[in-house]
Amino acid sequence: MQNDFKNVYISTYGCQMNVNDSERMYSLLEMQNYQEVKQADQADLIIINSCSIREKPVHKVRSEAGHYQKLKKQNKSLRVGVGGCVGQQEKQQLLKDIPYLDFVFGPDNIDDLPNILDKLENDGRLSKAKFKHQEPYHITNMVRNPGVATFVNITKGCDNFCTFCIVPFTRGRLRSRPLKDLIKDINALSSRGVKEVTLLGQNVNSYMSDEGSDFPALLKTLCEDTPIERIRYVTSHPKDFNQDLVAVLAKYRSKLCDYIHLPVQSGSTEVLRRMNRVYTRQEYLDKIAMIKEAIPGVSLSTDIICGFPGETEQDFIDTMTLAELVEYETMYAFSYSPRPFTKAARYGDQIDEKVSKERLKRLLTFHKEQAFELAKRYEGRVLEVLVESLDKRSSKGVDKPRVMGRSTQNKLVHFDGDESLIGQTVKVKITETAPINFNGERVFET
Ligand code: 5AD
Ligand code: SF4
Repeated sequence: MQNDFKNVYISTYGCQMNVNDSERMYSLLEMQNYQEVKQADQADLIIINSCSIREKPVHKVRSEAGHYQKLKKQNKSLRVGVGGCVGQQEKQQLLKDIPYLDFVFGPDNIDDLPNILDKLENDGRLSKAKFKHQEPYHITNMVRNPGVATFVNITKGCDNFCTFCIVPFTRGRLRSRPLKDLIKDINALSSRGVKEVTLLGQNVNSYMSDEGSDFPALLKTLCEDTPIERIRYVTSHPKDFNQDLVAVLAKYRSKLCDYIHLPVQSGSTEVLRRMNRVYTRQEYLDKIAMIKEAIPGVSLSTDIICGFPGETEQDFIDTMTLAELVEYETMYAFSYSPRPFTKAARYGDQIDEKVSKERLKRLLTFHKEQAFELAKRYEGRVLEVLVESLDKRSSKGVDKPRVMGRSTQNKLVHFDGDESLIGQTVKVKITETAPINFNGERVFET
């Protein structure tokens, strides 16, 4: 029998938004008779879903595209495209620089992918990286096999213009999806067995639906009017993390997870001002105190940039002391990377890369030690774990099956159990800890 499927391979860089965008591409392409393959050399269509938040992943796109020249020589019908933020940022330039690239598109043009592929066959190489300025933001949520926990986009773009960040230029202005669409999507996912959703956006707590619901109102509605058991959300901006939101988090604590990712970027008020973050060190610390008081035991996470233009040794020490005070359980830290279109790239006082990298190393060394210490606080505690899957790796060589799932603090907990537990929330006593991964034993209530 002839197999008339075509094969598609998508390589994904960057944030969770991109991972979710790739899933939407796979879903759309499945409807066009494409099936996913895990190796580029088996594909009829290759898409690089790119990231431009820092310079390194931009280079990776060009070098990965370079590898496909050979494949294109072997397979004349192979099509290669670049999507995502580099597609948006560089548009025609990529087609000029990479002669064997067939098409370029931006994050706003994913729904056009079937059209783009059609056009490609008729009209030849093309770039389609236009923003859609429609308000509200309409997309169809698409996940092929959502499993127990999955993602739902709630906003796209960002209006904050932090001076280091390319996102407002590659993802455009902030747009929010209508509340009724989100309720519909989450109900549909629940009926497919999903227990946990992570609401996605560059700046979720700026959410404002066309009907006037802000982010706290959205969370309240989802907790009250949908059967979803757990809700997470990334990323929040400290300026919008207000008392209303904290009150909702405390009230619906059983559904809204005890994990908050609240990027601080720097612990120095002067650096924060030059980053256009619109909060001071003290204001950020006050918000953390408010959160810790309302949600005792909350697990905090952050993003930090080292070596922002003009950052002095004292500014950096301020970041280290802030991290020490806040006690972040998870930290994503980066060395500053000047990005096109951004204000900070034009600042005159750029820091030598060696200095930024050395500061980054110091910060990560400090954090690693602190994270191990903070994790120890969980030893002996009983956590509610939503089981996501069999734990194949730790089941190897052991006669009993093992499973893994997440606690509401976003810790990956491994323990003895079988497939029947997938999708259930069970109590697990923690016996061994590392910053992210815990081992435990299931406890049974008497
Ligand atoms: N250089 C280094 N890190 C950056 N980030 C964003 N832009 C840059 C940049 N130009 C980091 C921020 C952001 C995270 C997603 O990436 O910390 O929160
Ligand atoms: Fe970038 Fe700042 Fe918007 Fe986050 S809030 S996406 S760092 S501009």
